[in-house]
Amino acid sequence: MPKLDIRLRTVAALINPHDDSSVVHGDIGSDHGGLLVSLLRSKRIAKGIAVENKTQPYDNSCCALKGLCAEVRFGDGLAVIQPGELSSLSICGMGAESIVKILDAFPDRVPDHVVLQPNRQHELVRDWGLRNGFHLNEEQIAWGHWPYAVISLQRADVSEFDASTPKDPAYADVDFEAALLFGPLILKRWEPKFAARLYEEQAYLQGLTQLRGDYEHRLHQIQKVLAVHAAR
Ligand SMILES: C[S@@+](CC[C@H](N)C(=O)[O-])C[C@H]1O[C@@H](n2cnc3c(N)ncnc32)[C@H](O)[C@@H]1O
Repeated sequence: MPKLDIRLRTVAALINPHDDSSVVHGDIGSDHGGLLVSLLRSKRIAKGIAVENKTQPYDNSCCALKGLCAEVRFGDGLAVIQPGELSSLSICGMGAESIVKILDAFPDRVPDHVVLQPNRQHELVRDWGLRNGFHLNEEQIAWGHWPYAVISLQRADVSEFDASTPKDPAYADVDFEAALLFGPLILKRWEPKFAARLYEEQAYLQGLTQLRGDYEHRLHQIQKVLAVHAAR
């Protein structure tokens, strides 16, 4: 059994939360295959489908998943997945732009539950959820080498969804721009470690002699959030 790091353990814990015994889970960019091996060995999923678009990671996945109820497919993201084939999907360890590109390429092949772990710019992933009628049902920070955001999205009831005014109850009672950046559930949970990290980042950004546009935006959001909490 591969020992998953805290980042992938956090992802694994959010897959099949209702212990459904028939879940077929797809992992795009599976590389070492560790996530699916762990999910299969712990019987958290019934079948795994690993997708890789590079030879060495594809070979790694084939080797790791040999003998387990899994398929390894060579191809570009959801291009090698059939509509309705998956119960859930994970895409981890990539930039958010790549994750969103994969999801946007075949929207009809995205299952109702997705767990995403972008390395940077998580706001793009949250924005994808809002634009595509998904609700944030859980998000956590995995405190590994970096603080990694792990975002779990569930397709909302179609009747509730209106693309012109996306509403996800997770964003209620929280500053929208800050929530997009840091995560509405993470902000509401306000764990001491997260608050400490924001104070640290505020000090770092304030110490820079020049602030690029996105840093300036980030500092502004941090200051807003810290001011709200200081006033409580
Ligand atoms: C940094 S690794 C992350 C591996 C693993 N998911 C993890 O989180 O530890 C990213 C993997 O995604 C694969 N990848 C990137 N874009 C892909 C795409 N469009 N389709 C399939 N695989 C992709 C890469 O080949 C690479 O093995």
